[in-house]
Amino acid sequence: MKYDVRQLPLISNTEIADGIFDMRLEYKQDDLPVLCGQFAHVYVPGKTLRRPISVCDASGNVLRLVYQIKGEGTRIMSRMSGGSVDVLVPLGNGFKIESGRRYCLIGGGIGVPPMLYTAKQCDDPLIITGFRNESLVILQDDFKAVGETLLCTDDGSAGRKGFVTDLLRERINEIDEVCACGPTPMLKAVAAVCKEYGKPCRISLEERMGCGVGACLVCAVKVRKNGEEVMQHVCKNGPVFNAEEVVF
Ligand SMILES: Cc1cc2nc3c(=O)[nH]c(=O)nc-3n(C[C@H](O)[C@H](O)[C@H](O)COP(=O)(O)OP(=O)(O)OC[C@H]3O[C@@H](n4cnc5c(N)ncnc54)[C@H](O)[C@@H]3O)c2cc1C
Ligand code: FES
Repeated sequence: MKYDVRQLPLISNTEIADGIFDMRLEYKQDDLPVLCGQFAHVYVPGKTLRRPISVCDASGNVLRLVYQIKGEGTRIMSRMSGGSVDVLVPLGNGFKIESGRRYCLIGGGIGVPPMLYTAKQCDDPLIITGFRNESLVILQDDFKAVGETLLCTDDGSAGRKGFVTDLLRERINEIDEVCACGPTPMLKAVAAVCKEYGKPCRISLEERMGCGVGACLVCAVKVRKNGEEVMQHVCKNGPVFNAEEVVF
């Protein structure tokens, strides 16, 4: 895993939905190429720990981070308006995308952003995104430019009423593999549908983080390897795991 701390000039930091911001930073991929599904660890002035945010896009010399205000750190991020941002990048393993396979990319809520850069690596992806309601819907035009895009909300205020798994069941026979990011109950449900239909499934997990590089053990999760349960680091071994190996 090759990463570095970079001072990245801030291009823009715009609110794109209720409490959700789109931060764009200048980033040249030359010596540190970013894989889809990797994350950036953002230094927030006044805070000891960095904040992990998935790479939403890294095309065209722009690193895009889409984040929701959760607590103080992300609130401070939302007020950044100029200069440069101190970012440790690129971290984690990312999604492995192979050519010649049709992927279904599933994002739920604030787990949607990393699926954009992932979709850009796929041939003819099927993209399914789900949100609680219309006010939280993001990135639909970006996704539509990349592949077939299906939208659902819990209350039916945008797209179909229902869950991403309803749409997945309807289309699962058309795809070879699923990649997903979102809340744990959604990931668990997606993993169960994929198991039922015998489709490979990779999921991006979220855990509280400290160092972001495998040194502090804060982000441990339980996975099953060769029949045994072992602890692994979301920051270093993940955030992307084979869904069949994750012990929910
Ligand atoms: C690999 C990864 C990718 C992520 N990608 C995104 C993304 O693309 N967009 C987005 O909006 N959010 C993302 N998150 C969640 C984001 O990191 C937290 O919402 C953020 O750190 C909260 O910080 P805070 O200071 O606002 O909140 P506080 O609750 O005040 O944070 C206190 C501490 O807890 C940590 N923390 C709190 N919630 C989380 C969490 N869910 N995950 C990890 N650490 C947390 C913070 O980093 C901080 O150290 C991601 C998390 C991980 C692990
Ligand atoms: S955050 Fe320190 S080991 Fe993962």
